[in-house]
Amino acid sequence: DGQNVVNIFNNTYIVDEFTNITPSIAEKSGRKLLKDPANPLSIIKKLIESNFPPQEYTVFDPPEPAVTVYENFDSLNFRSDHPGRNKTDTYYLNSDIVLRTHTSAHQGHCFRTISTPGFLISADVYRRDEIDRTHYPVFHQMEGARAWSRDDFATEEELIAKINSDTLKIPSPGLQIIDSNKQFEESSNPKQPGMSPELCIALSNHLKRTLEMVVGGIFTSIRQMDRDSADKEAVQIRWIDAYFPFTAPSWEMEVYWDGDWLELFGSGVTEAPVFDMAQVPNHVGWAFGLGLERLAMLLFGIPDIRLFWSTDLRFISQFESGRINRFQKFSKYPSTHRDVAFWLKEGSDPKDFHDNDFMDIVRDHAADLVEDVKLIDKFTHPKTGRHSLCYRIVYQSMERTLQSDEINALQDNIRSEVAKTFGVQLR
Ligand code: PHE
Repeated sequence: DGQNVVNIFNNTYIVDEFTNITPSIAEKSGRKLLKDPANPLSIIKKLIESNFPPQEYTVFDPPEPAVTVYENFDSLNFRSDHPGRNKTDTYYLNSDIVLRTHTSAHQGHCFRTISTPGFLISADVYRRDEIDRTHYPVFHQMEGARAWSRDDFATEEELIAKINSDTLKIPSPGLQIIDSNKQFEESSNPKQPGMSPELCIALSNHLKRTLEMVVGGIFTSIRQMDRDSADKEAVQIRWIDAYFPFTAPSWEMEVYWDGDWLELFGSGVTEAPVFDMAQVPNHVGWAFGLGLERLAMLLFGIPDIRLFWSTDLRFISQFESGRINRFQKFSKYPSTHRDVAFWLKEGSDPKDFHDNDFMDIVRDHAADLVEDVKLIDKFTHPKTGRHSLCYRIVYQSMERTLQSDEINALQDNIRSEVAKTFGVQLR
C-alpha cells in the first residue's frame, strides 16, 4: 500500500513479517567509515591490502549492504536451519533481503566477475548483537580469496605443482608459529570428500603461508612505526581447527597479544559447491574473513568499539592515513545506570525472550549513548510462577556529559516501548 516500505541506499524494500531493521541501523549504513582515509579502520584495511600483490588480488569494496538471503547464506552452503539465519541474529529488510552478516556474501559475485586469481572484499557488516565494549551491531570485515581452475591444467599433478610453486616457501620471519601441521583431520576437520589429500594439503599450505606473510607484514610494520613496542620479539600466532559451512578443512588464526590469545580471522579451503553456485565450476581455492575492528582496537589500543563512529575531534584528530599510532585516551565522560525490570506475560517462558530484541529497543531510543546492557536478574515468583527479568542499562556518551533529565527521558521511553512491544508488566 505504498506505506510499508523501508529505504536503504536509495532502494526501497517492501516490508513483510521478516522485517526487523531499525532506524538507527539503517542510518549507520550511510556513514562509510572505510571511505574515510583517516579512520583507523581504513588505515588497517590499506595496510593489509598493501601486503597482497595487486597483480594477483583485486580490491573490491561493495557499498550496498543489502544482499539476498541467497547470497548471504544459501550460496555459502548454510543449511536451511542454520541459527545464523534467525531473525534474532540477522537484520532482515524483508524475507528475501538481509543486511550482509559477513563479507562472504560477495564471494560468489567476485569469483564470477573478477579476473585476477584472488580478491579482497572490505565492507560494513551487520549482526544483531549484545551491547558492550567490543560488540556493536555494525562492524567491518575484510574477506580474501584465491582460486585456481582445474580446466587450466591437463592433470591434477600439474595443478598441484602450480599451487606449490605459487606458495611462499618460508613462513614470515617476524612470527613464531604454532601449528599442528595437520592439514586435515578426518574426525574433526575433514577434507572435502571429492578432493585428494595431496590437493587439500597444497591448498592448505598456500592459504597458511599467504596469511602468515600478511599478518607478519602487519606486525613488522607496526614494530617499525611504533617505538614503544620496541621489543623485537617475534609475535606468536597459532592455527586452530574451526568449522564454517563453506570451507573444509577450516581454521582460525589466533595471535598472542597483551597476555591473551585473540582470534584474528576464520579461513579454510573453499567447498566445491560454493564454486558451483558461483557459476565457476571446476575451481579450487581458499578464503579468509577478518574483523577489522578487532585488529584496529589491538594495534591502535582503542578501548571501545563505539569510538570508531565518533566525530569528537579529540578522537579523529589523532589519526592520519598510512600511520599506526597508540591512541591517547582522553577522559571518559561519566556513566550512569538505570534498570528496567518487568514481569513476563503469564505462562510465557523466559527462554522465548531474546536479549537482542531488548537491545534493539535500547539502541533505537538511546543510540550511541549506551555503553553496556546486561541481564542482571532473573526471578520466578514462588506463588504465581510468573517470571521477572531485570536489565541494567549503562548510559555513557563518548562526546559529552549526559544530564539526568535526559537519561530519565530516554529511560522512560525505553520502558514504555518495552511494555508495549513485549506486553510485559513493568515493575
Ligand atoms: N565469514 C566468516 C565469518 O564471518 C569468516 C570466514 C570467511 C571463514 C571466509 C572462512 C572463510 O565468521
